[in-house]
This record gives sequence, structure tokens and C-alpha cells, in this order.
Amino acid sequence: MKFKSVQEIGDLYLNYFKSKGHVVVPSSSLIPAGDPTLLFTTAGMVQFKPLFTGAVELPYSKACSCQKCVRTTDLEVVGKTERHCTFFEMLGNFSFGDYFKKEAIEYALDFSLNHLEIPKDKIWVTIYLDDDEAKQIWMNTGIPEERIVRLGKKDNFWGPAGDSGACGPCSELYLDRGPEKGGPDCGTSGTCKPGCDCDRYLEYWNLVFNQFNQTVSGELLPLKQTGIDTGSGLERVAMLLQEVDSVYDTDELKNIITTIESLSGKTYDQSTKVNFRVITDHSRSVFFSIGDRIYPDRTGRGYVIRRLIRRASLFARTLGITEPFIYKLVDTLTGIYSKRYPELKERAKEIQSVIRKEEELFLNTLEVGLEELEHLLNQMKSKNETEVRGVDSFRLYSTYGFPREMTRELVLERGFSFNDSEFDAELDKDRDLSRASWKGKKTAYLTGITDTSKLKTEFTGYTQLNGTAKVQFLFKDGKQVNSLKAGEEGVILVDKSPFYAEGGGQLGDWGYIKIESSQFQVQDTQKENDSHLHLGLVLRGEIKLGDTVDLEVDSKRRQSLANHHSGTHLLNGALRRVLGSHVYQKGSVVSPDYLRFDFSHPASLTDEEIRKIEADVNGAVARGITVETEVLPIEQAKTSGALSMFDEKYGNLVRVVGMGDVSKEFCGGTHVSNTKEITYFAVLKESSPGAGNRRIEAICGDPVVDYFQSAFQVLAEKIQNYNLSAKDVYGDLKTHGILDKIPAPEEVQSLFETKKTSAVEYLREIKRKLEDSLSEKLSGLHKDKKKKEALSFSLNPELVEDLLSKVIKIGDIVIAKHSFDAVDAKSLKDLADSLKSREANILCLFASKEGETSTLVYMCNKVLVDKGVHCGNLLKNSLEILGGKGGGRPDMAQGGGKNPDQIDLALEAAMKEIQNKFGA
Ligand code: ALA
Repeated sequence: MKFKSVQEIGDLYLNYFKSKGHVVVPSSSLIPAGDPTLLFTTAGMVQFKPLFTGAVELPYSKACSCQKCVRTTDLEVVGKTERHCTFFEMLGNFSFGDYFKKEAIEYALDFSLNHLEIPKDKIWVTIYLDDDEAKQIWMNTGIPEERIVRLGKKDNFWGPAGDSGACGPCSELYLDRGPEKGGPDCGTSGTCKPGCDCDRYLEYWNLVFNQFNQTVSGELLPLKQTGIDTGSGLERVAMLLQEVDSVYDTDELKNIITTIESLSGKTYDQSTKVNFRVITDHSRSVFFSIGDRIYPDRTGRGYVIRRLIRRASLFARTLGITEPFIYKLVDTLTGIYSKRYPELKERAKEIQSVIRKEEELFLNTLEVGLEELEHLLNQMKSKNETEVRGVDSFRLYSTYGFPREMTRELVLERGFSFNDSEFDAELDKDRDLSRASWKGKKTAYLTGITDTSKLKTEFTGYTQLNGTAKVQFLFKDGKQVNSLKAGEEGVILVDKSPFYAEGGGQLGDWGYIKIESSQFQVQDTQKENDSHLHLGLVLRGEIKLGDTVDLEVDSKRRQSLANHHSGTHLLNGALRRVLGSHVYQKGSVVSPDYLRFDFSHPASLTDEEIRKIEADVNGAVARGITVETEVLPIEQAKTSGALSMFDEKYGNLVRVVGMGDVSKEFCGGTHVSNTKEITYFAVLKESSPGAGNRRIEAICGDPVVDYFQSAFQVLAEKIQNYNLSAKDVYGDLKTHGILDKIPAPEEVQSLFETKKTSAVEYLREIKRKLEDSLSEKLSGLHKDKKKKEALSFSLNPELVEDLLSKVIKIGDIVIAKHSFDAVDAKSLKDLADSLKSREANILCLFASKEGETSTLVYMCNKVLVDKGVHCGNLLKNSLEILGGKGGGRPDMAQGGGKNPDQIDLALEAAMKEIQNKFGA
């Protein structure tokens, strides 16, 4: 068979059904709209459910789509088989009371033979048990009776999707892949045909003949109108046409596999196949789901996504990848799928960061959880126990975030059994406790504590990231406790701590608190009065009141926070230098991933201002300025010229952070010790948070390199798209001009290495120039496209012939009357000229409507003028009907009006006048 790429197959399909009068409808979201019975969109028909049942007025009677779908029923076997996927794309054509079985079958066969180019003798079909009508239709198309197989309800009755809705018998198309794909007995038994478990016959298209509306109680009522719902898995068709054994070997999925190979340095082979496939499949589901704003969560859709990320993480880990990894595939996924789903490009950054955070969260506990499971299974083995108890599997869930299904899979793989009902019982107990989600929430923990001498944490984190301290208080569920045990969430207070508590816009630190082998993971640090609250989870062992513990701040994250905090100060200074000293800080957020700075300024910033601001900050970074802090009495601090915020309360002593002559501010945050640690600074976005203020979002450090790399990739794609459209208009493009000037990711990387901080300005300039030249080209293309369309319209020989064949004669006058949709006056005139050159006695009465407006063009040759035709006068009368004014010469008149729905009446008025004057 002829190789066709996934993209080609999708295009062929939609174009085919478009040419058969179907409206091409874009894929709907993975969240089914208004259907609480369905967790995800599982088929192409889901978005059309109300159209099938007649619940809404039909916007069209036939449609086709390429729909993104998620089905997780077979999640556990994904990766282990050749064809299972949790995410797939489904091609489908639909009829709502329009055509039925005959056309659906004929379309499917015609498309298979003449567009997919599948040989007819390889096609088999199945029908529902007693559907003789379908059988007859298939036979009429030339499919021999022996290749038509009757199957029962399980295979050939489809629907509804969710609890209720359209359903009906179906007929499926199969491809015979040859006896060599059959099972060991298939050659001899003679029973091998569609329905056999072997790999010989593969279903590639399901045609559902919707006849029933199933109610929630399971009753089958006849549908008001019959309908057609078909579904053909895009990846599966590609697998057949590309003659590969697995959907994972088709062009697009293979591309993801290759990316995993190159990012991980591992090879895709027999021993790693399952891991690669799970990562490939799950990354797609997660990518598309987060793209549709489904975020990892404890319940519902979010839980499914969390499970998929965690399962993929686990499979990455057994491949030897211990760092967050799935998020790295987002660039490749965006590259592949934004062709069909362009909105994903805008979402890519967010998707990437959501996945990364979820991976980090899980990986922090994965090792410990797996060790614990290992320990448990070993113990069970020594005691000859075979069933993992609910308390144990639930602990893995609640403490280490192991999804139930993942634990079940791990346990079964090792030959143990899993007790679901015990797990459920534990889950219920846990829900009963309905623990408030405390994380990140500011609770008044300390109000009841009378020994205030213990209520001041000495903060040692300006100079240290580690320390030893004594546990003063422990809290669980908001109440004081004497100890926190493995699996318990809680809050720890110590006498001195290097953990920075959220404040002044800077987020709280993360890290660990340890004593011997006990370990508490700090997931956030908050402040209550003068105390630092370490919020988190005991990973192992136990933390007790009075323990002397070791504290350890996550240093990588802290460095990123420091980069962004010092970057914020430099930005504040730069803004005042570039825009003026009226700039006043309104608020800020300093996170490890980016900074956000709101300030007073009346107008949006120009490109040139942003360039200067970036250059100013990067200049300060390049100079390597030592950051100095001092604690001063407030009055002295104020006279030192340090910036402060009016609405912030300060004590008698304030900390002032200075960076040479470029910045001096009141600040309690943690900073770099020298500005060169920031390495690079780049503005991501400038916008307004409202109320006459402006907002800048920016990044510091290595993320700047990533930012430019991906920005140029996005630009390259835009240019490729431009080239494709330009090819349609200008013919083959010999050079791709701007595309060649785009720096490749390696080039961006090495530019940063050689040019250091000035790379930002340099790349910003290249980017701006390329964008300008692209938008110039795009607007030229837009104009030329319009011109070309107009030209091809007026010179379209078929149209000219068609109009000539439909002329009306009144006396000697040959009238071509037509009303068009959305054609401009110039094109109407060109068209009239073409007709005039073909027929001397022609009078063209042309109209066109677009939105609320209408256009009229009346034209004739001089011969008719000599006979007394006056286009200008004819037009005047017509325009009155349209509520417009105008006129013109005897041989040509043009005008415009409103009332587009009156256009036919307006043309009729002109006809009548001719009839009166020249008719018999
Ligand atoms: N809705 C049908 C299916 O999913 C076409 O197979």
C-alpha cells in the first residue's frame, strides 16, 4: 500500500467529506460540554450528541471532524500491546437525518478504495446479526458475500457514549493483512475471519447506523430522525497504510519515540519497548488534557491526568531516568500537533510547567514509596502472604501519591494480589475525616500558645542553607501534637531556621527536615507573626517534640528564587532610569520560575523601551556588582535614598539591599551575592493588571536560553506555514529567505556562551527583525491572495460558461443575472467584462452580499446602450430597494446598499423595467 503520513490521511479524509457537502467541524475539547455522564470526550460523535437526538436546532445536516479523544478503560495494557492508546484521534463523518446506510457505506468504500488506495480484495466487512439491509448494500457495492461477516451486539452495536443518547447497529470495515499475521491455528481452522482474535483482520472504520435514543434507564426509544456516526482511528489507519506492526511505529508517534531516545540516551528496543510506549502515549493524553485546561488533581478528570503522569514517571524511572522528563517532550508534541490544533502553541509553556511541577512532586516521594513497597512485599513473602492489604496499599496512595491502579499493577506484576474493597474502605475513612486542604493556607496556628518566648524563629537563611535546630511545636490538622509520623501532613516550628517564609512577594522555601533516618519534606514555608511555619509531609520515620533536627533548604530552588528577586530589584531600577522616576512599585511575585512586577506608568511600553530596560538590567548583570545588605534605623534608611513601598509597614530597623549605583531598596528577601549569578535577564511579556498600572513578567538565568530557543522554534513554524500558503499563491518558492536566518537551538546556546548577557539584546533584535519581515510578508501575501482569488473568480471559465448557459432573453437583450456571496465590486466588473467579450448583446445584472452590505454592478456593451439600455438608471431604482444611493453611466453602474436580504427583489426591479421597455 502507498505510504501516507498521519497528516495526509487526516487532510484527505476531511477534504473528501467536505467535497460531499459535509461541514468540517473542529475537534471539541476533551471535556465534554454539558455532559456530566462522561469524564472525557471518547468519540467523534460526543460533541454532536444533541444533534442526533434532535435536542437542538440543526446548524447543518452533515458534518465531519478529526476529534481528539481520551479513553482510559484499558490503561493498564497500554504499552504492552501494539495498538492500545489512551489518547487517539478519530476521523468521523456524521449525518443528522440527512443520509443513512446506503450513502454511509458507499462513502466509506469509495474513500477506502480511491483515496486511501486500499485494494478492494483486502477489504472485509462485518454487519449486525440481522441487518440484511446493510448486507445487501455491501453486496451491491461489489463486496462478495463471503467477505461479509455477521457479528453480535458486543462488536456490532455501538453506543451510547455516556449514560444515554444515540446508538444503533453498526457495520465495520476490516483490512486483511495476510495469513502470515494469523495465529498458529488460523491457517488450518478455516474459521479465521473478522472477529478472530488474531492480528490478520484489523478493523479500521466503524459505521454506526443510529436508530435509537437510549434513556438513562436503558430503554431504547426510536430516534426522531435516523443518523450516521462513523469513527476511524487516525493512528490505526496510518499503521495499515504505512505497513507497520504498531501504531507506535507510525510517523508521528515514531517521532516522539525518537525524541525520547535522544533526550534520555536510551535505545528503543525489545527490552525498553513498553516503557517507551507508555511514555509516548501518556505524554500525549496529558499534553492534550492540560491543553484543554484539565489539571492534575485528587478527583475526577484531574485524577486521571495525575495517574497518567505518575504512571509515565514510573516507566521513565524503570528506564533509568530519575529526573523529571515527561515535560521535556512538550516541545516535540507541540511541533507535531499544532499543525492540526494550532491553539496548542500558545498553551505549550503552561502545559510544560504543569507537567514538570507534577513530576517533581511525585518524584520527591517515588523512591521512598517504592522502597517501602519492596520492603512490604519481601516481608509478605517471608510470611507466605499473597494479598496486599488495603491499609498498606492505601498508605502508598495517601503518603507517597501512588495511584491505586499503579500499586495494583506493581503488585500483580510481582505475583501478589490486591484487595480493592479494603482499599475503598480506607478511602472512605479518609474522606470522612475530610481533612481541610491545609497546604499553603494561612491558618492561625499559634493563637492558643501562651509561652511566647518560643514564638520567634531566628532566621539564619540569609547566609546559610543548612542548620540544626530544636523542634518547638508540631501541628496536625491545626492541632498541637507531640509527634508526626510517616504519612502524616503537618507543620513544624523550630527555634532557628534557614527556610525563608513567604513574604515581600518571594515564595517560601522548600527542602527537608531530618533526624537520623526520619525525614520530613518541607513543601512550603509560611510566616505567622515572627514564626516560620514549615508545612509538609513526613516521608519516613517520626519527628518528635524536642528533637534536634537538621534542616536543609532546596538550594537549587533557592538560587532560582534569589536570581529572580535580585532581577526584580534591577528591573525596578531600570524602569526608573528608562521610563522616569514616576515609576513606583505596586506589587511583585518572585518565584523560582519567573518574576512579575506591577508598577505605575500611564502607557504600554514600546519595543524600544523594553529593549532599553533589558539592556540596562543585563548591563548590571554583566558588571558583576556585589550585593550589599545593611540593617539601619528606619529614618537613616529613608534618607539613604533606598526605595520603599508606602503601603508596607516597617519596624524600627530595616534591611536595605544595595546593588552599587543601580539599586537600593528596603527588602527582607534573599538575594544573590553578586549580580553576575543572575547570568541573563529577559522580558517575557508586558501587559496591564488594570487601574493605569503596567505589569512586566520576566525570567532570569538558564530559562532565558530556553525561552529564546523556543521563541525561535515558534517563529520558524510560523514561517513554514507562511511558506506553505505563499506556495499556493506564488507557486514554488525557490528560497525560503527568512527561514534560513533563524538561529537553531544549538546556535542560540552558543551565542549565549560567547556573547553572555549581550546575547539577549542581540537575539531580541534578530527576533524583532524576523517578526517584522514576516508580518510584512504576511500582509503582502494577504493582499496578493485576495487579488489572485478575485482574478481566478472573474476568469473562471466554468463560471462564465455557467452564467452564459443560464441567460434570460428579453427581446434582443441577453440578461445574465446573478447574486453572489461575498464577491467584491472589482471582481464583479471583471466577470462582466469576460461575459461582454463573449456575447455582444449581454446585460449583466450582478449583485453580491456580505454581512450587512450589498453590492450591485450593472454592465453592458455599447450596442445595447445604442438600443436604449441605461445601466445607471436601472441601478438607481434597484438601489432604492436596498436603501442605498448611486448611479452611473449608461454602460456601467456600480453601487452599494444595506438590506442584503432584499437583493433578489432589487435585481427583479431591474428585470421588470427591461421587460416593460423591451419585452414583447
Ligand atoms: N462512535 C463510533 C465509535 O466510536 C463510531 O466507534
